Amino acid sequence: MHLPNLQEARSRTKKEVSINRYSCNIEYYVTNKNYLILTYGCQMNVHDSENIKALLESVGYNETTNISDADIIVINTCAIRENAHNKVFGMLGRLKKLKENNPNLIICMCGCMPQEEHISLEIRDKYKYVDIVFGTHNIYQLPQLLKEYTTNQKQIIEVYSIEGNVIEGLPVKRDSQYKAWINIMYGCDKFCTYCIVPFTRGKQRSRLKEDILNEITALKNDGYIEVTLLGQNVNAYGKDLYSSYNLAALLTDVSKIGIKRIRFVTSHPWDFTDEMIDVIAKYDNIMPYIHLPIQSGSNSILKKMGRRYTKEEYIVLFNKIKQKIKNVSISTDIIVGFPNETDKDFEDTLSIVKQLQFDLAYTFIFSKRVSTVAYTLEDSVDLATKKQRLAILNKLVNESALNNNKKYLGKTVDVLIEGYSAKDNKLMGYTDTMKLVNLKGGASLIGKIKKVKITNIKTWSLDGEIDDR
Ligand code: SAH
Ligand code: SF4
Ligand code: F3S
Repeated sequence: MHLPNLQEARSRTKKEVSINRYSCNIEYYVTNKNYLILTYGCQMNVHDSENIKALLESVGYNETTNISDADIIVINTCAIRENAHNKVFGMLGRLKKLKENNPNLIICMCGCMPQEEHISLEIRDKYKYVDIVFGTHNIYQLPQLLKEYTTNQKQIIEVYSIEGNVIEGLPVKRDSQYKAWINIMYGCDKFCTYCIVPFTRGKQRSRLKEDILNEITALKNDGYIEVTLLGQNVNAYGKDLYSSYNLAALLTDVSKIGIKRIRFVTSHPWDFTDEMIDVIAKYDNIMPYIHLPIQSGSNSILKKMGRRYTKEEYIVLFNKIKQKIKNVSISTDIIVGFPNETDKDFEDTLSIVKQLQFDLAYTFIFSKRVSTVAYTLEDSVDLATKKQRLAILNKLVNESALNNNKKYLGKTVDVLIEGYSAKDNKLMGYTDTMKLVNLKGGASLIGKIKKVKITNIKTWSLDGEIDDR
């Protein structure tokens, strides 16, 4: 058993990160068995799940989407807010019943939650039916852990606080044949005072540019149309590895590979350089869409959050991006109810949202995370006030989303058609500016970039039809 330790997770060592190549020499293999994976949280978890799927398939499991057919269920968890926790604990309750009916069912828990010391302890003490627990740093050990579990039939908790290395060459089973997630860096060193991620994902570690470029070249050769470069703070790419090679240089090199669409998330405003803006503006295959979390419009709250920019600096950056990148769309994240947020602080957030008219905003109520700086802050604001503030903010961000969509009405835009949407039998896809478009059409359109005329607009999506002219 190896439990995580928060004291260790907080520390940042100067120890050099080694880059290890994955190879599996565990002799463990199953036949006629199915796995099901449940993924919560951000794109990083979605991509980790693609690795977990491939690892499970490498030892013989087949994927199922029917929970009652599964011989092994993996829950890949998120720790960002309390409601993410609650969803996972709710699901664990369901799985307990399944396990009572099928004692051979193997339940695995991984992702960001087990990286939290108190969660791993809770699983050890109260959730004995969770068989294998591993963290974000040792996904590659899954075949070994499975072998160990099937031999001993004892709960395994194997979670490391200190990020070890960058593991290259993990197998991957991608969810899409057209769009691919590419990690360009792991971890985060920003330590915003509300955020658990620097604890659950460890210190910032960039991948070697050669490894990233080779992966993308191979994807292009396999017919992929879109790549999204992933990191908690992609703008800081390379700082831990190179003296001058940075995100602007990486974007330039990725662009030259010639893949049709390049995206990246997430950008922290602090590291956003002019050089980057120029590169995004220059290359047509770098999509004009930027997710630029502001978090708050109050300078005093921004300072307490440790975001290291002022609202004025954010506005300058926002305007520069709007001016230089033609047709760009910008979305954001906003937290309301940070401890002791005053009416005036909240007004400042509303005022900046009115002024900047974001294309989209993901809004959250502050959630206390164990071990973060904000965890210990006294808070004079009650939950009812926070909920009220969230509702007022949401109304405003929805208005600006709808307003932004108005300029698309009657226009013809490029849409990468991804498949049929779950709720109706319409096709869905995204514009270069990341607007969701629904349209009628046949399956032969899937996986292609098509000209689509926008016929109707909504707050969260656009309706369109194929424009054959
Ligand atoms: N690395 C990204 C954010 C990743 S987390 C960035 O810095 O931009 C995604 C979003 O969740 C954050 O932007 C923030 O708005 C929200 N978030 C993070 N921690 C939170 C907390 N403790 N309570 C509420 N929202 C939080
Ligand atoms: Fe969290 Fe801040 Fe890092 Fe984003 S930049 S992951 S909000 S600590
Ligand atoms: Fe959640 Fe971990 Fe991502 S906490 S948001 S899954 S990095």
